[in-house]
Amino acid sequence: MKSMAVLTSGGDAPGMNAAIRSVVRVGIDKGWQIMGIRHGYSGLITNNVIPLGARDVSGIIQQGGTMLGSARCPEFKTMEGRQQALRVLQEHKIEALVIIGGGGSQTGAHALSQMGFPVIGVASTIDNDLYGSDITIGVDTALNIALEAIDRLKVTALSHERAFLIEVMGRDCGYLALMAGIAGGAEAIVIPEVETDPETLADELRSAYERGQAHALVVVAEGAKYNAAALADYFKEHKERLGFDLRVTTLGHVQRGGAPSAYDRLLATRLGADAVERLTLGEHGVLVGFVKGEPTATPLTEVVSNKKPLDLRLLELARMLAR
Ligand code: ADP
Ligand code: F6P
Repeated sequence: MKSMAVLTSGGDAPGMNAAIRSVVRVGIDKGWQIMGIRHGYSGLITNNVIPLGARDVSGIIQQGGTMLGSARCPEFKTMEGRQQALRVLQEHKIEALVIIGGGGSQTGAHALSQMGFPVIGVASTIDNDLYGSDITIGVDTALNIALEAIDRLKVTALSHERAFLIEVMGRDCGYLALMAGIAGGAEAIVIPEVETDPETLADELRSAYERGQAHALVVVAEGAKYNAAALADYFKEHKERLGFDLRVTTLGHVQRGGAPSAYDRLLATRLGADAVERLTLGEHGVLVGFVKGEPTATPLTEVVSNKKPLDLRLLELARMLAR
């Protein structure tokens, strides 16, 4: 019987478990023996490999995180690290690998693929910064968590007539901040893709204050040149420019730990299944993502050499809405 392995790598994302479950059960259905690699690429290097049966993935579809564990593994960026990983794969007679993860993980997948090993990536990161997928596993849940926090903070902002800076994750990508800002009715959104200096933001908030708005919410992406801490430092020095009293909340990893939404469970299930079906037909060296509503394969060479653009028309829309 042919054997395939699955691993989760990089930042955990809600829905990774649903993807593992789908790979295992669809894989078994297609006649594969499935192995799980624990803790991402680290487990490949340290030989942390376990067999996975259909029952081993029971009861995980509704759980955030990843039952296999995830890791950042600097050794995998070296040729020696990847050669050691290949030795472990050969030792277990594993013939194909499904790599569930974000941009860094898919760069690792590409490197392994260039060494001749059959891999397929599955697009999974809360940052939604992966070329080859309109939306990635985990984004919907992370966005809903950010939104719930924004709605709650709005209550206090309104009661106290305050401004809030709310920092969301996303690494160098402003997607989460932009979408959370629009859906949360923010007065301003600060993202890495468009530089916003503190003076301009102060003017926008001052104008909201003078229009008689009882509160103001600013969603700030962690990767913006002026993140929430930098903006708060500026406002501490220039209180008079703001009008509002100001508070800062950084959501951080809270955004990653939620139970996956229906959307993420379905997306992960479909992408995991598609990856296995493609491997079964002999296809590899691609990322399986969701493009125009369908699981779609994009060559990993394209994925690693392109940057997914953010639709900045939505920032303009957010500006028009904040009146
Ligand atoms: P994500 O996959 O969520 O973007 P990271 O950027 O941390 O997370 O990448 C996860 C892991 O992928 C890294 O710890 C490393 O093991 C592997 N990786 C990242 N970049 C490369 C690279 N250039 N070559 C080989 N492996 C890489
Ligand atoms: O890539 C997912 C992500 O949550 C980013 O949004 C964030 O910048 C990073 O991971 C945080 O990494 P760590 O969990 O290693 O602190």
